[in-house]
Amino acid sequence: MSVSMSDQINIVILAAGKGTRLKLDIAKPLCPFLNKTLVDFALKGVSSFLHKSSYEGSFDFVVGHQAAEVEQYIRLNHSDKKTKFILQAQQLGTGHALQTYFEQSPESYSNPYTIVMCADTPLIPDHVFTEMFKMMEDTQADVVVTSFKAFDPFGYGRIIHEGDGIKIVEQKDANKEEQAINEVNSGLYLFKTEHIKKTISTLNSNNSSNEFYLTDLVKPEFNCVTYCSPKEDFFTGVNNLADLEKTQKSFMQAKVEELQSSGVIIHDTASVYIEDNVSVASGTVIFGNVHLFTGTTIEENVILEPGVIVKGSHVAAGAKILAYSYVENAKIGSQASIGPFARLREGSEIGSNCKIGNFVETKKAKLEPGVKVSHLSYVGDAQVGEDTNIGCGFITCNYDGKEKHQTIIGSNSFVGSDCQTIAPVKIGDRAYIGSGSTINKDVPDDAFAIARQRQVTKEKMAKKFLKNPQ
Ligand code: UD1
Ligand code: MG
Repeated sequence: MSVSMSDQINIVILAAGKGTRLKLDIAKPLCPFLNKTLVDFALKGVSSFLHKSSYEGSFDFVVGHQAAEVEQYIRLNHSDKKTKFILQAQQLGTGHALQTYFEQSPESYSNPYTIVMCADTPLIPDHVFTEMFKMMEDTQADVVVTSFKAFDPFGYGRIIHEGDGIKIVEQKDANKEEQAINEVNSGLYLFKTEHIKKTISTLNSNNSSNEFYLTDLVKPEFNCVTYCSPKEDFFTGVNNLADLEKTQKSFMQAKVEELQSSGVIIHDTASVYIEDNVSVASGTVIFGNVHLFTGTTIEENVILEPGVIVKGSHVAAGAKILAYSYVENAKIGSQASIGPFARLREGSEIGSNCKIGNFVETKKAKLEPGVKVSHLSYVGDAQVGEDTNIGCGFITCNYDGKEKHQTIIGSNSFVGSDCQTIAPVKIGDRAYIGSGSTINKDVPDDAFAIARQRQVTKEKMAKKFLKNPQ
């Protein structure tokens, strides 16, 4: 088998089933998985394989249950791929799904290879596809069935070796002896399309499920082999929500091991939650119950204390995020210290060496290096210049009930505790704002501003108000 640029693959993704056992109101391919969906993950390995190989492929979905929603989701989220949608209105089995595909898409017979896979198997890595093609090339087989040795084979089709050939017997049709076999069909196949063309019309539903089985395209008299993978975890299908938890955990376990082997210190691997598309550099320390969501990059030697949640954010080297802080679509500069109990919302850009203390919230706020906002403050729609110190209990009053406005504070300034700025307003460089001020007019560079009632003190008058006057 020689590989040329023109080698085309039909990638047929069986996604018509209802997924009854999930007990969800959505189609199975759209079942949430690590903040995306099952089908997104099912496509990951095969897309990456295609990308690295010289083959070209089209992603052809056999849809049925909630077909319109599944199609819409895939069109929207995988617009970079060549896709096709085939409607299997009645689901009469996996073999029927493939029949329906070729009936509605006869032009696909001209592509030399057909991969058949399921939308509910999210962890198959790219190298499994490479291995299947290698196996086909080495053995000159017409079909490569990916199998694995199952710890508990119940429910899977069993691989029966007969002479040089194989067949697959479904759970419901297997006798005692066959049921004891633990090599099982993963549901992932590589076919020479010619083989399907020759055999697809022979399928029937004479079996205990009265379904047309795709597995009947595999018979001892045909030229079929197995690629038996040593990794059961790759092929776990999601049929119920316990499977969902198990598969997500095995994805995260692999991720955690990868991080540990690259120098990331993780104190309690069982309690951390790490999604896809997260990178963490060496020397970083991750305590228990840290959650890192997709799109997050953590540079070297960062400390993430217990309970920290980071979503879609960048954290530069040497920063510390102290316990129970929540960071979303933000950037944190090197050596900055955040929290404990801080909330950085979207568009927060915290410069290097800044300090954001407890119960501080920021949103669309750019803080230049060295800014300190140490306690109980809200900084939103704001810019704060280098080395400015903001006292306890400061609030940018950014919203007038209709629109948001900007607060701009210069560098090396000092804002006393319990101040508010009523935006839009500007405070200059090296300015000093007295505690308890409500600033609604611009303050120029080098100025002192104070905006609070003068104190009134009445000698000996306290006893009038005290409960137990002496
Ligand atoms: C199938 C295999 C079994 C294998 C197992 C691996 C058959 C007959 N059996 O069994 O050997 O061990 O997968 O997980 O193929 N689907 C359709 N249209 C249909 C029926 C199913 O699109 O008419 C889709 C489903 O949505 C699902 C996939 O095909 O994504 C597999 O179907 P499912 O019913 O789960 O097959 P299994 O019983 O798991
Ligand atoms: Mg299944």
